[in-house]
Amino acid sequence: MKLPELKIDKLTAKLPLIQGGMAVRISTGALAGAVASTGAIGIIGASGMAFDELRKEIAIARERAAGGIVGINIMFAARDFIGIVQAAIQEKIDLIITGAGFSRDIFKYGKDGDTPIVSIVSTARLAATAEKLGASAIVVEGKEAGGHLGTDQSVWDIFPEVKKAVSLPVIAAGGIINGAEMCRALKAGAAGVQMATRFVLSDECNAAPSFKQRYQTATKDDVVLIQSPVGMPGRAIKTAFVEKILADQAPKPAGCDFCLKKCSFKYCIIQALINSQKGDIDHGVVFSGEYVWKIPDRSIKPAARIVKEILQEAAEAGC
Ligand SMILES: Cc1cc2nc3c(=O)[nH]c(=O)nc-3n(C[C@H](O)[C@H](O)[C@H](O)COP(=O)(O)O)c2cc1C
Repeated sequence: MKLPELKIDKLTAKLPLIQGGMAVRISTGALAGAVASTGAIGIIGASGMAFDELRKEIAIARERAAGGIVGINIMFAARDFIGIVQAAIQEKIDLIITGAGFSRDIFKYGKDGDTPIVSIVSTARLAATAEKLGASAIVVEGKEAGGHLGTDQSVWDIFPEVKKAVSLPVIAAGGIINGAEMCRALKAGAAGVQMATRFVLSDECNAAPSFKQRYQTATKDDVVLIQSPVGMPGRAIKTAFVEKILADQAPKPAGCDFCLKKCSFKYCIIQALINSQKGDIDHGVVFSGEYVWKIPDRSIKPAARIVKEILQEAAEAGC
């Protein structure tokens, strides 16, 4: 099959590929811009960013994107959710992808700002609700994804149900680690795929070298599920801190700025994500998809080369 373009509302991406947003400062303007310049869609992980910082990252992405499509991802769980949405719309972001919880209000802001809203869901019921409220596309995310998870079911099981439930473009996410899997999803009727884990091993990814090294050394058994204080499970690679979470011995937060709408305060997930992004992975959580260990060759390279390799793998698989 020929690779289709990905149409989301008024936008058309040349490639049916979205680089998944990664908080906290893992996917910033540099990565989103580099991916967008290839004809795929680049996404800034906006959760945890201050408004001015977000504006700066959008400008960086735009500068590098060569006219390509740049969006933001924002977690509903973030207390600043609506403020970030408004700031991104003011900056004329191309699209907003929202996950980790479900907002009804966001669709009104999207409509007023003429900005497509894409909902990340893990059930057909929520996909149908998103369509009714005005979503422009659906990302269906399975348990294979990195970060906070809304399901314990495989994307391959949920996808057909979601596809049946809506007439919007449906994008598959979670564990799609190479072009062959991308081709499989497209053949199953996906309008595109969202891939995040694969892009961590790029020059432009804003994670510290030790974070990327953990991606390079992780084995299948190193990838585990933790309970996040947000109230959802999260998929991560084992670190000393993750071992403490698994043993229920993670330290209580030293302070709190109440950055999440809901938090159990068992430990500070945001501080743990900041620590790992900055390189202190022993005191951090390294979020990753289930199939990090399947990334081909696991060397760090330009994001544009990663996209090229994904396309080559897809072609070899018949797409
Ligand atoms: C390090 C990391 C951080 C992530 N952060 C977010 C986030 O802030 N918001 C979100 O909706 N999804 C987040 N995700 C999920 C991805 O955007 C993506 O949908 C998912 O990981 C796709 O599966 P894959 O990583 O196997 O390709 C994150 C994933 C990773 C690996």
